[in-house]
Amino acid sequence: MASEIKKVRTSSLADLKASGTKFSCLTSYDATTAEIFDQAGIEVILVGDSAGNTVLGHDSTLEVTVDEMISFGKGVSSAAKRALVVIDMPFGSYEVSPTQALENAILMMKRSGSEAVKLEGGSDRAPQVKAIVAAGIPVMGHLGFTPQSVHALGGFKVQGRGEHAAALEKNALALQEAGVFAIVLEMVPAELAKELSQKLLVPTIGIGAGNGTDGQILVWQDFAGLSSGTRKFVKQYTNLRSDLAKAASNYRAEVISGEFPGKQHSFDS
Ligand code: KIV
Repeated sequence: MASEIKKVRTSSLADLKASGTKFSCLTSYDATTAEIFDQAGIEVILVGDSAGNTVLGHDSTLEVTVDEMISFGKGVSSAAKRALVVIDMPFGSYEVSPTQALENAILMMKRSGSEAVKLEGGSDRAPQVKAIVAAGIPVMGHLGFTPQSVHALGGFKVQGRGEHAAALEKNALALQEAGVFAIVLEMVPAELAKELSQKLLVPTIGIGAGNGTDGQILVWQDFAGLSSGTRKFVKQYTNLRSDLAKAASNYRAEVISGEFPGKQHSFDS
């Protein structure tokens, strides 16, 4: 249980960075896990468009729609009382223009109950970030490996190695200048992520970016050992996949044998 129940705001993350205190983030797409993570003290819950993979079974995040994100967001925000709830703007909902981005950000905030939006990309997205921030909506940036650009990036690859480090830094500074309150760094060399975290005034949140960032984020099915595969940067804190598989096969066996439901699960006449 979290020791304090103070609501986490975007300013809380800045305060944590200023005091050198790290913070934790997890994804969630439903009320049940959001409640558990919130009560465990996780500071930020991201309604990630990784739901496209983890919930909807797509190969990428590209097909996820604004309406789907709003449904996931509603579930999460109804249950998260303390954590800051951030919702991903899905592919196609913000790239066309700052006006498109602002309209969708307003819609998603109004209908999902989230407290901030996240979008992917660097200096090219600065006009979108500025427009959304000017309307009073906090924006989280996302650099490095950006899953919505998986095809342009040629697959799941570490970003910012060698001479590409300078471009990543330029993009991070452009996002900060545009007004983001935090930046996710995904699949970035640990040393570069640490340097950027020291240079930037806004907090960084790493996933596959070493331990020099201000916060960390994992997709919940990965950290809980529910996903079928794993990645180098994931640590499994439990093995829900094998626990659930065992539970399901025990349940099936007891249904077939007639052991379940027992007297204690049945009503008297
Ligand atoms: O959609 C998502 O889950 C994300 C995290 C991996 C940062 O963007």
